[in-house]
Amino acid sequence: MLAFILSIAFLAVSAYQYIIGPLYFDRKSKIPGPTSFALTKWRLAFEDWRGHRTQAINKLHQQYGPVVRIGPNEIHCNSLTALRTIYGAGSGFERTAFYRMFDVYGKQNLFTFYSTKAHGERKKLVANAYSKSLMMKGVAASMVQTKVSQYMAFLEAKDTEPDEIFSSLHYFSIDSITHFLYGSRFGGTSALTGNIKDRGLLSDILNPARRRLSWFAVHLPTFTKWLYTRKGLMESLLVPLLPMQKPATYTGIRIHALEALQRFQHAAETEPGTTFTESTIMTQLWKSHESVKGAGPGALDSLDIASECADHLLAGIDTTADTLMFLIWALSRPQNAHLQRRLIDELCALPDHALENGVPKLEALDALPFLAAVIRETLRLYAPLPASEPRSIGVDCVIDGYSIPAGTVVNMSPYSLHRNENVFLDALKFDPDRWLGPKEQVAVMNRWFWAFSSGGRMCIGLQ
Ligand code: HEM
Repeated sequence: MLAFILSIAFLAVSAYQYIIGPLYFDRKSKIPGPTSFALTKWRLAFEDWRGHRTQAINKLHQQYGPVVRIGPNEIHCNSLTALRTIYGAGSGFERTAFYRMFDVYGKQNLFTFYSTKAHGERKKLVANAYSKSLMMKGVAASMVQTKVSQYMAFLEAKDTEPDEIFSSLHYFSIDSITHFLYGSRFGGTSALTGNIKDRGLLSDILNPARRRLSWFAVHLPTFTKWLYTRKGLMESLLVPLLPMQKPATYTGIRIHALEALQRFQHAAETEPGTTFTESTIMTQLWKSHESVKGAGPGALDSLDIASECADHLLAGIDTTADTLMFLIWALSRPQNAHLQRRLIDELCALPDHALENGVPKLEALDALPFLAAVIRETLRLYAPLPASEPRSIGVDCVIDGYSIPAGTVVNMSPYSLHRNENVFLDALKFDPDRWLGPKEQVAVMNRWFWAFSSGGRMCIGLQ
């Protein structure tokens, strides 16, 4: 009898905790959305498994409006007011544990810090190196121009043979970013000019099983970490269960970051003074390491520096290569042939002094209106990071009139913001000319344009 009563009590408590509470008594129950999503996080995880998460959330916005409940403790928003409340500078919202999968060697970095303070301190060390004025002139600009020349030579060497553009754009992207982060001597790669080892760094990134691994890392983080950190006999026994066989995604570029730092460190110790001739992200971080050496919490150790560099590489490599790939694909479609022609004409009209060794200077490219419109339209319709950017805050708040309890995970996504038909007419059409229309209209679209996020945690690569 006692067992029966205890079972009923257990069922009643579970029903309240997992069904009645979330659906009727939780403050989030006022937020519109389907019951199945409010009841369990696995409903959204299922869409993620199918590769439809971002599109499914967009459909929910179309059906339920600008604020929807997508999980027992998770909501998704799609309005300018929510954008300011959540991502505006000084909003108090912080990144969630989701980002910890991007820690490198167990070390947090710019991408994964939660707290505004820790993030701000690290950002101060590198922000200047990313400033537009430095990028457009000097060493960084000529390095990018060299990589463009090498990419053109790579394509021309293929003659009439078609190129598998997804891989070759990754060569361009890894070579450019490693030179920027590490410099030519310590870790700059040569994938474009045929270095097999450097091309090999990309094999775990280009492996399609990577998507399955990210599903596991997002939805079963502890189990996934456990699976990948077993050693010896246990490791061999678990091989069939791994979502992606080792080496898992980014293993190559993580090892590469550490090796680059070791080479740099060795040179710094054996040839003092010579290592700072090239200004790179690694030299910036190293200078701070030297100035506060061993002096408490501000001091960066070698793993902090390697983690920071590897993180920038993994943040920049796919985003850059995928944007270029979508841009080229969009222009290659027969219905866009006229856009391709206009872009060629704009580039061919550049005067000789805007070229260096036959390649346009970055400053000259930056001033081309149609090129800017084509890039912006690519980033709007095919944002390389289209999905939700989760945040949370430790106090209750109000978003678009809904009371949101402390600790709720709130999200917004470029995919949904960029498809609002009231802002982007004929939103699914690739139409660069929309960015060349009346100023007031462009100003409104700019407010909704969110490919690089916004506020204190926006992309550092954009500046
Ligand atoms: C088309 C190219 C790029 C796009 C669309 C892009 C987009 C983004 C977005 C949306 C975020 C915020 C992510 C979030 O909060 O969930 C971000 C952050 C970041 N990106 Fe980019 N990115 C691009 C290129 C780059 C490049 C080339 C680098 C560096 C070489 C870079 C480094 C970073 C870093 C370090 C962060 C973290 C910033 C912070 O938290 O302060 N990105 N990027």
